[in-house]
Amino acid sequence: MPDGQDTLRRSTSEDDITAEVLARFAATPDPRLRRIMLALINHLHAFVKEVELTETEWFQAIEILTEAGKMCSDKRQEFILFSDTLGVSMVADLIGHRKPEGATESTVFGPFHRLGSPEMPAGGNIAHRDTTGIPTLVSGRVLDLDGKPIAGAELDVWQAQTNGLYDSQDKNPDALHMRGKFRTDGEGRYLLRTVQPVNYPIPSDGPVGAMLKATGRHPWRPAHIHFVVTADGYDAVTTHIFDRRDPYLESDAVFAVKDSLICDFERHDAPTPEAAKLGMAGPVLTAEFDFVLKPAGAVAQASVLDAQRRLAALGARV
Ligand code: BEZ
Ligand code: FE
Repeated sequence: MPDGQDTLRRSTSEDDITAEVLARFAATPDPRLRRIMLALINHLHAFVKEVELTETEWFQAIEILTEAGKMCSDKRQEFILFSDTLGVSMVADLIGHRKPEGATESTVFGPFHRLGSPEMPAGGNIAHRDTTGIPTLVSGRVLDLDGKPIAGAELDVWQAQTNGLYDSQDKNPDALHMRGKFRTDGEGRYLLRTVQPVNYPIPSDGPVGAMLKATGRHPWRPAHIHFVVTADGYDAVTTHIFDRRDPYLESDAVFAVKDSLICDFERHDAPTPEAAKLGMAGPVLTAEFDFVLKPAGAVAQASVLDAQRRLAALGARV
C-alpha cells in the first residue's frame, strides 16, 4: 500500500459527502460565484436529505428537466414557466427591485415578450386584428419621484388576445399582434388603444402543466397588460397593470399581483370624447395608470434589462 493511502479522506456518510463537495468548491476565485455555489450545494443536499429523495424520484426529476429543455424553442420557454410557477421569479423580482416609496412596482417579465414590436403614435391600436374584444383606451403619465413628467419615455406594451393566446401561440405565430412601443409627449402623457385584457391559462401541455395538475393548482393568470417603461436617466420598470374585477387576482398562477398594479377598467356605453376622436364606437373601456420611475443609479438595473433582452432574443423572430 503506497504511503499515505490510509490517510486519504473517505466519504462514508451523507454529511461527509456534503462537506467534501463544499470543500471542492471552496477555492472558487470569484467571490459571488463561490457564495452562490456553496449555498446551492448546502440547500440542495439539505433538500435531498430532508425529503429522503429516492433514486427513482431523482431520475424522475432528471426526466422532467430533460422534457422541459426539449420543449424550449423560439416559441416556448418552459424554464421561465417553472421559475414563475414556483414563485422564484417573484422572489428575485422583490430582491432586485426594492423601490423607493412611490416608484412603480415591477413584476414578472414572463415568456411572451418579443423584440421588434412596432413604434406606434399616441392612440395607436395594438389590437388591430382582434375584432371581438371590447375596445379599450389606456392612458396616463410617466413621472419622476417628484411628480414631474418625463417626456420621451418609451412604453413597450404586450398583451394576450381576446382568445387568451399571445400572437406567438396562435395560428400565424410569426405575425406580431397586440404589441407596440409608445412614447410620452412633452407632458409625460401616453395613450394606447387595445381591447379589454382577459384572464388566460399559462401553457400547461408540458412538465409545468403536469406539476400544476399533480399538485391541485390551476394555471390561470388574471387579466393584465404588460409594460416595460424606459427613459434616459431612470431605471426601467418591467410590470403589468391588472383589471381590478378579475377573479384570479388572489390566485395568480405565477404570484405576480401587487396591489399597486391593480387598475380600474371603466365601461362607457357611449364613446368618451377621446374615444370618439379616435373613431371608436361604444361601448369602450378606459383605464388610467401613471408610471413613476426612479433615477438611474443601480448598475444591476441595466444588467436585468440586458438579461431580459437576451432571453427575448431567444424568442425573437423579427
Ligand atoms: C405572462 O403574463 O405572459 C406570463 C407570465 C408568466 C408565465 C406565463 C405567462
Ligand atoms: Fe401575460
